Amino acid sequence: MSSFRIAVFASGSGSNFQAILDHVNQQKLDIHIELLVCDRPGAKVIERAEKAGIPVFVFRPKDYISREMYEQEIVNELQKKQIDLIVLAGYMRLVTDTLVKPYYGKMINIHPSLLPAFTGLDAIGQAYKYGVKVTGVTVHFVDNGMDTGPIIKQEPVDIHEKDTIEELEQNIHKVEHLIYPEVIELIAEGRVRLEGRRVSLYPKK
Ligand code: GAR
Repeated sequence: MSSFRIAVFASGSGSNFQAILDHVNQQKLDIHIELLVCDRPGAKVIERAEKAGIPVFVFRPKDYISREMYEQEIVNELQKKQIDLIVLAGYMRLVTDTLVKPYYGKMINIHPSLLPAFTGLDAIGQAYKYGVKVTGVTVHFVDNGMDTGPIIKQEPVDIHEKDTIEELEQNIHKVEHLIYPEVIELIAEGRVRLEGRRVSLYPKK
């Protein structure tokens, strides 16, 4: 069986990128990160990819006249590398139909809240300031809305009265680093079924 080929898109530190990379290496899974796509030259995630010998496609959105133009270039790269799954991991841009159409059902995102609450930027800060007692992490398929695609998995994270925002951030990241690699593994094994907005998981027995 040929290996499952993923492309990770990220904009910043890349702690989720690292967690995915470490998980596939440690578990010796037949999953390979074939490409990192990054929209911010100088982002720490690029260093992480280069250290691991993973090819990087880095671009500056403002060098293009439209989103569709750079997304088409990305699609060409993904097709060259025969990517099976796009994994958005802190990629802080909306995607358009140029990417969504060819990859619907093959593109996932992680978001640091229990969607549909607290979409968009700074979801952890939004939840903290709102004063909710429980927030969490959502992994979902990507459509062309903002954090609106079908939900694959959610995990709650409690907010305790004494928690600082930094502590909450750490707690959220811990959960992200556990569940994102898990979901990728399930998809690679064909254990995730998408029907309309509903997603069914078939974990290993
Ligand atoms: C993660 O917390 C991820 O959930 C969030 O960006 C962070 C990236 O961290 N994504 C979003 O807010 C998307 N709407 P990382 O670069 O250390 O993986």
